[in-house]
Amino acid sequence: MSLIDGIGSFFGLDIGNSGIRLVEVRSSGKQMQLINYALVPVDSHLILSDSPADFQKVANIIKQLVLQAKTSSKNVAVNLPSARVFTTIVDMEKLSSDELAKSIKYQADTLIPTPVETSKIDWALLGQSPVDKNKVEVLISSVSNSYIERLVDMIENIGLNVVAFEPDSIAMARALLPANQVEPSVVLDIGAVSSDLVISMNGGPRLIRSIPIGLESMVRTVSENLSIETNQAQEFVYKFGLSKDKVEGQIFNALTMATENLFAEIDKSIKFFQNRYKNTALTYFYVTGGASIIPEFPLYIANRYGIKVEIGNAWTNISIPENKRNDLLAVANQFSVAAGLAERSL
Ligand SMILES: Nc1ncnc2c1ncn2[C@@H]1O[C@H](COP(=O)(O)OP(=O)(O)OP(=O)(O)O)[C@@H](O)[C@H]1O
Ligand SMILES: [Mg+2]
Repeated sequence: MSLIDGIGSFFGLDIGNSGIRLVEVRSSGKQMQLINYALVPVDSHLILSDSPADFQKVANIIKQLVLQAKTSSKNVAVNLPSARVFTTIVDMEKLSSDELAKSIKYQADTLIPTPVETSKIDWALLGQSPVDKNKVEVLISSVSNSYIERLVDMIENIGLNVVAFEPDSIAMARALLPANQVEPSVVLDIGAVSSDLVISMNGGPRLIRSIPIGLESMVRTVSENLSIETNQAQEFVYKFGLSKDKVEGQIFNALTMATENLFAEIDKSIKFFQNRYKNTALTYFYVTGGASIIPEFPLYIANRYGIKVEIGNAWTNISIPENKRNDLLAVANQFSVAAGLAERSL
């Protein structure tokens, strides 16, 4: 039992484009145990909508989900979707924490793309810059005040209390990377609407990118290419995936075409990373999200990048009950953001 009730416990909430998920863990010693998880599918149009009526619908869905899950806390750590948040890693002068904060505030105009007056900016010190020994690497995130205010309002109106926000990419990388992993690793979450890429090393993110290509646009390309309905295209993608020998390689061809822009962006990011951190070979490639279970997709990545590929498992750092193991592993590629939020130390 937490001494200061209300602060010690919270759950993670991922308001994703294709589903809303929650995860609650309990720490016992060093180990975290899963005590609660829940998922409800939603339509991406609803989540992307800015209309107050749709916001209310989302609020009701979350309320139902939380009630059904019977979370032990009303405190919640919430995701900031990539489409709404800007995240960057920059080199800054080595300064005390106070001075660094001032310096970021002063330079904010040049660091973030949105107007400073209407944005909430947050930062975290990552460590020594690899390019200048007098500088440090700083992770900077910004999000519009109006989005945050609307989100807080919505969540407070359903009786919950927001204790933290975090960009999708940072949460999902925390969940997928084994806690003690130091080797340079790529983590890719291909969601319904967009994909998040993180390259991590020495226990922290070193490159973060959001790429506006997700499953929905891939399926659309396949459907246009083969002149078939979207539903059928989605079925084919999940049935045949990147197998060259199925239906005369038609799905393989359409799907490689559909993913080429995504991989081209990933290539650029890897090049940037390897240019910045000399002599760092990538060791692992974790892929998660809806696309990670497309047949032969992980194999395709392994061949393309010549590294070990694993399907990212949201429960990597959480011990799960034995009697729920199969159910949980079946959805392990959907829960990384919610699990990563739950694993935060506030
Ligand atoms: N077995 C399956 N068959 C068909 N579609 C599937 C299957 N598994 C996942 N998907 C699709 O994958 C997508 C869900 O991916 P994911 O859970 O990563 O999205 P999300 O987190 O809600 O989206 P985002 O990260 O963009 O907010 C949905 O579009 C869903 O239709
Ligand atoms: Mg997602």
